[in-house]
Order: sequence, then C-alpha cells, then structure tokens
Amino acid sequence: MNGKILLLVVLSVVLQPRFIRAEEQSEGKRLYQTYCTGCHGASGKGDGPAGKTLPVRPADHTNSKKMNQYSDDHLFTVISKGGGSVGKSAQMPAWGAVLKETQIQEVVGYIRTLSGANKDAAQGQARAK
Ligand code: HEC
Repeated sequence: MNGKILLLVVLSVVLQPRFIRAEEQSEGKRLYQTYCTGCHGASGKGDGPAGKTLPVRPADHTNSKKMNQYSDDHLFTVISKGGGSVGKSAQMPAWGAVLKETQIQEVVGYIRTLSGANKDAAQGQARAK
C-alpha cells in the first residue's frame, strides 16, 4: 500500500474532534475558575485570596459531609440567586445575571466532583494548573 495514503488515513482518524470535546466537558471547571476561585479557592476549600478578606468564610466545596446535605436544586438556587436567597451570607453573590442556566448546571456538576468520589482527581487537576 502507498505509504502516503496510509499516513493520511491514520492522521484523519487520530485528529478527530474528540480533543475539542474533552475541553467542553470541563466547562464547569472553567467557569468555576473564572468566577468562583477568587473566594472559594483553586481547589474549592474556601481559601481564595478574596475569600480570606470576607467576614463570612466562603463555603468549603470539598467538605463532602456538608455538601452531601445539599440537593442540586439548593446549589443551583444559591449560585443563581446568591447566599441571601437561602438565608446565608449575601457575600455569596448572585450569578443569575452573569451565567446562563446551563452554565450554572455545569458549575453544580463541577462542584460535586470537588467533594465526590473523584475528589482527589479533581483537586489534582486544580493543583496542576
Ligand atoms: C465574593 C466572594 C464569593 C464569590 C466570588 C463566590 N462565592 Fe460562593 N460563597 C461565598 C461565601 C462568603 C459563602 C458562604 C455563605 C455563608 O455560609 O453564609 C459562599 C457559599 C457558596 C455556596 C454554598 C452555599 C451553602 O448553602 O452553603 C455555594 C454552592 C457557592 N458559594 C457557590 C459559588 C459559585 C459556583 C461561585 C462562582 C460562580 C461562587 N460561589 C462565587 C463567597 C463567594
């Protein structure tokens, strides 16, 4: 077989758009790092540089005991309408005007990984950044 054609076939299989899709999957992580880590910290422990200056400490999203008490709906409401909407500190801003519903859902999904079974993997990624 012609070596050049074989090479082309191999390349077209390898260069599938799945690499692009891998990035889309971490949309929640990207949003979290853009909007949330300033207060909640790079690994979600609530130790971001801005968070340290607040009178109320930002929630620790790696605390699975605490996070497992919250439904996805609760997390969605807090993120969308702010801490004040659930009787928590209004230092937690409302993101409903900044983020689309689907984006908030992505972020909720990402927060789950911070305290979930694959917590170490998620934190490893955050640290590697
Ligand atoms: C200006 C600082 C700040 C930023 C930015 C911020 N938060 Fe918060 N967040 C807080 C504080 C403070 C609390 C704790 C409120 C309390 O315990 O009364 C909190 C609490 C939370 C909670 C937990 C609520 C609960 O019921 O315990 C979630 C979930 C949350 N934040 C998600 C986010 C997400 C997602 C983003 C980014 C889109 C974000 N936060 C950005 C300050 C911030």
